[in-house]
Amino acid sequence: MITLSVVKADVGGYVGHSSMHPDIIDKAKESLEREKRSGLLIDFHVTRCGDDLQLIMTHGLGVDNERVHKLSWDTFLECTQVAKKLKLHGAGQDLLRDAFSGNIRGMGPGVAEMEFEEREAETIIIFMADKTSAGAWNLPLYKIFADPFNTIGLVIAENMHCGFRFDVQDVKEHKRIFFNAPEEIYDMLVFIGAPSRYTVKAVYHRVTGEIASVSSTERLSLIAGRYVGKDDPVCIVRCQGDFPAVGEVLEPFTMPWLVEGWMRGSHHGPLMPVSVAESNPSRFDGPPRVIAAGFQLSGGKFVGPRDMFDDPSFDEARRQTNQIADYLRRHGPFEPHRLPLEEMEYTTMPQVMKRLEGRFENF
Ligand code: F6R
Ligand code: MG
Ligand code: MG
Repeated sequence: MITLSVVKADVGGYVGHSSMHPDIIDKAKESLEREKRSGLLIDFHVTRCGDDLQLIMTHGLGVDNERVHKLSWDTFLECTQVAKKLKLHGAGQDLLRDAFSGNIRGMGPGVAEMEFEEREAETIIIFMADKTSAGAWNLPLYKIFADPFNTIGLVIAENMHCGFRFDVQDVKEHKRIFFNAPEEIYDMLVFIGAPSRYTVKAVYHRVTGEIASVSSTERLSLIAGRYVGKDDPVCIVRCQGDFPAVGEVLEPFTMPWLVEGWMRGSHHGPLMPVSVAESNPSRFDGPPRVIAAGFQLSGGKFVGPRDMFDDPSFDEARRQTNQIADYLRRHGPFEPHRLPLEEMEYTTMPQVMKRLEGRFENF
């Protein structure tokens, strides 16, 4: 069995929150290379989406392994030192706890991990987003695994006609429920259509029980109890064979749907599919970005990545993103560009309210 672990954190931005300094990536590679030589990791790939550092690793130790989580944590700490030396913005911003105690979950970084028997050809796409929150994958995962208008394989491929099983989590109450698609999609959409509260954690093949997808669902603000930056989530999807084809997995990203995030984590904005090189959210700290790294796995070794959105067939989505961004920006501080009060993670409301308390009159 192979375990694929993707662990990510913002350890400091360059310039502002728009991108990442190359020295951070080099430091992370150095740290993971050491542990590849020691035998802990089979292989690794380090990349970034905007200002988020992405550690993509394979090993044989299963999910939630203490040594792999500790390695990730220590790598983020080492990279934070580099960020501090360069005085990058928000050095160590996602490292919310002082001491590592067995598992990196709940400490700030985002985690998506899955364990599986490597197939004859193991095709994987890892989606990584910046300037948005954990529920951003609900819509594409629904389209990929439950919508026949997106995934024709659900209709005409015998090995997918059975549908998929969704693990949906209530991130506020820490409860989960499983839904079978297609017969329970109306019930499921009641929940996953509200992505700030309910997130799709994983998807499974209905017949084989094989894991098809897993995403990071950590909500930074719920961990920290205050605004500390957006979750900037990741999502792993296995493709081909019993799973949707690469093209079916990428297809939802031709529509720049609205997500929470953007400036100060307090706005709705369109999610723009871009190449790694173009994942530098700078206009109004956005618009939110998503990148896709494609790999074939060979004995746990990464063959790749291919930069899947580095493709002119996503130009139209990028153009639409800019049009939607223009339109939304003209709303300035008004909803629905600005998030509703209860969803805003960055607000002066309590202070302003307190200062004006005495001036409110009954009418
Ligand atoms: C959004 C984000 C940025 C910052 C903004 C202010 O997720 O990271 O939009 O919220 O640039 O940043 P600070 O408070 O660090 O100056
Ligand atoms: Mg940042
Ligand atoms: Mg970020």
